[in-house]
Amino acid sequence: MLKFISVQTDNLHIAQEIQKKVFPKEYQNDTLENSLTSTPEYLSQFWLVKKGKKFIGLTGIYFYPQYPKDAWLNWFGVIPEFRRKGYGRKIFNRTYAYVRRLGFDNFRLYTDAKDNENTLAFYRSLKMKEEKYLPQQDDFTDILIFSKSCHPFKKRIHAWNNKYLYIQEQLLLSQNNMISYIKKKKSLSLLIFLKHPSILWRFAECFS
Ligand SMILES: CC(C)(COP(=O)(O)OP(=O)(O)OC[C@H]1O[C@@H](n2cnc3c(N)ncnc32)[C@H](O)[C@@H]1OP(=O)(O)O)[C@@H](O)C(=O)NCCC(=O)NCCS
Repeated sequence: MLKFISVQTDNLHIAQEIQKKVFPKEYQNDTLENSLTSTPEYLSQFWLVKKGKKFIGLTGIYFYPQYPKDAWLNWFGVIPEFRRKGYGRKIFNRTYAYVRRLGFDNFRLYTDAKDNENTLAFYRSLKMKEEKYLPQQDDFTDILIFSKSCHPFKKRIHAWNNKYLYIQEQLLLSQNNMISYIKKKKSLSLLIFLKHPSILWRFAECFS
């Protein structure tokens, strides 16, 4: 039985340890902290995943206020000694079930297309819709987007169709340089919530 524990400031150090083990190349001390503290709570949430007494992985979701139908997977992974035992799939499915309960239409993620064979094999095993991200302004190429409908009987999923993903901005945000961006984003969020108040309620829930 896996237990999901919400990441807060008091257990952030554990989440950072797990993050370091799961993403040794990408790890920077403050990325998770920045995601947690600089983003309004209703825009992103993270969970530590525990099996028995051991923390085995991490998962999270966020959404863009300007794309309120789509929830995105974030900081998802299993520490190396627990891989290939089915935990990744279980954690993914539980995160997906949560996103469905929140009422989003689509569950999506983006990942590197290159030097990322294990992760791509994992997402392909889940039979998600796969498309290339060909950004207009984002500096990033070699990115794949995987998507799954939150409506189980709806086989067709709407493609992302290259809407802007703010990857550059997210990177800057995680480097703590984005105070003005955050301020702008917060006022944008407020506007979106005035238009779509149900989103606020969605994010008030927790894993049961
Ligand atoms: C991707 C990741 C979460 C998979 O977790 P996991 O617990 O090993 O995955 P599972 O055991 O549930 O695997 C489910 C299926 O995915 C596929 N798969 C997973 N890892 C694979 C690998 N290394 N090679 C080939 N196929 C793989 C298989 O089809 C597997 O089913 P099988 O074991 O019955 O063959 C894990 O490798 C990881 O944490 N990687 C680093 C972090 C990362 O890349 N996160 C995603 C960021 S976008």
